[in-house]
Amino acid sequence: MTSSSLSYPPGIAAFPHRGLVGIAGLAPHETLFLLDEAEQWVEFNRLPQKRDDRLSGLTIINAFFENSTRTLLSFEIAGKRLGADVVNMHVAQSSVKKGETLIDTAMTLNAMNADAIVIRHASSGAVQLIADKVDCPVLNAGDGQHEHPTQALLDALTIRSARGAINGLTVTICGDILHSRVARSNILCLSSLGAEIRVCAPPALMPAGIDAMGAEVFHDFNEALDGADVVMMLRLQLERMQGEFIPSPREYRHLFGLTAERLERSKPDALIMHPGPMNRGVEIDSDVADLAERSQITRQVEMGLAIRMACLDVLTRKVRGIEGWT
Ligand code: CP
Repeated sequence: MTSSSLSYPPGIAAFPHRGLVGIAGLAPHETLFLLDEAEQWVEFNRLPQKRDDRLSGLTIINAFFENSTRTLLSFEIAGKRLGADVVNMHVAQSSVKKGETLIDTAMTLNAMNADAIVIRHASSGAVQLIADKVDCPVLNAGDGQHEHPTQALLDALTIRSARGAINGLTVTICGDILHSRVARSNILCLSSLGAEIRVCAPPALMPAGIDAMGAEVFHDFNEALDGADVVMMLRLQLERMQGEFIPSPREYRHLFGLTAERLERSKPDALIMHPGPMNRGVEIDSDVADLAERSQITRQVEMGLAIRMACLDVLTRKVRGIEGWT
């Protein structure tokens, strides 16, 4: 499916959601609407002067209860480039450290009349909990092992920009699928747009029932790579592991690392992707991660900014009283 084969309804019917908690629940035309909206920001961000004032007077709060480089900075830059006042809540210095509950924290942010709240949290479902308590749009910047919707959207935009369409592509996602919200959101997003998804991991890092999401399960990386159009590597999420899931990083790389030799099993022009942060020499070798023309890893970061600008713009149209969105 491409935008040229798509017609979505005008105004709020094109994206009838109050916030963005997950890809689950988005119709394909709603996903494509966000991708199409993001295209203008890709171009805009390449201009020398990058300032738009459509969110002027609005306040966006970024509350990240887990570490982040790409997502936090791109949401901050996205809000600022659109003219909003952006406030980053410093969790380490916040009253969360004094035992304040997540719900009380959410009620506190709500009382400050924020116009959008962006949340990253280690617990699956924490973002929905906050979204149910506050009056403004809530955007999920990654919740536990559940979803990372803007990552999937930026990955879809990256693939579509490079290949023209997503429909009919074979996408191999390899790594720590068990702990990966990126994998979940990407399976939902890319399969809804017509891609065939393969997931590959050692049995201990493959969640039961993942095939019910529409992904084909592999434990042999060589087989999973055969003829793939896109190879998406995921890091081992050691911070979510209790106990030993792999014998050693060296053995993991031997079986599941993307090396130049192994990459040859995919299509000759297969795209190489990684959401970051990478562990070079474990799930991906440096010569592959930096492969000119093929590696999309920095491109993903660029698309991430555009997607987050599109999401903030679209989700605040109602509060801004934009015609068709009231
Ligand atoms: N891909 C991603 O979410 O990166 P950060 O953890 O740096 O935000």
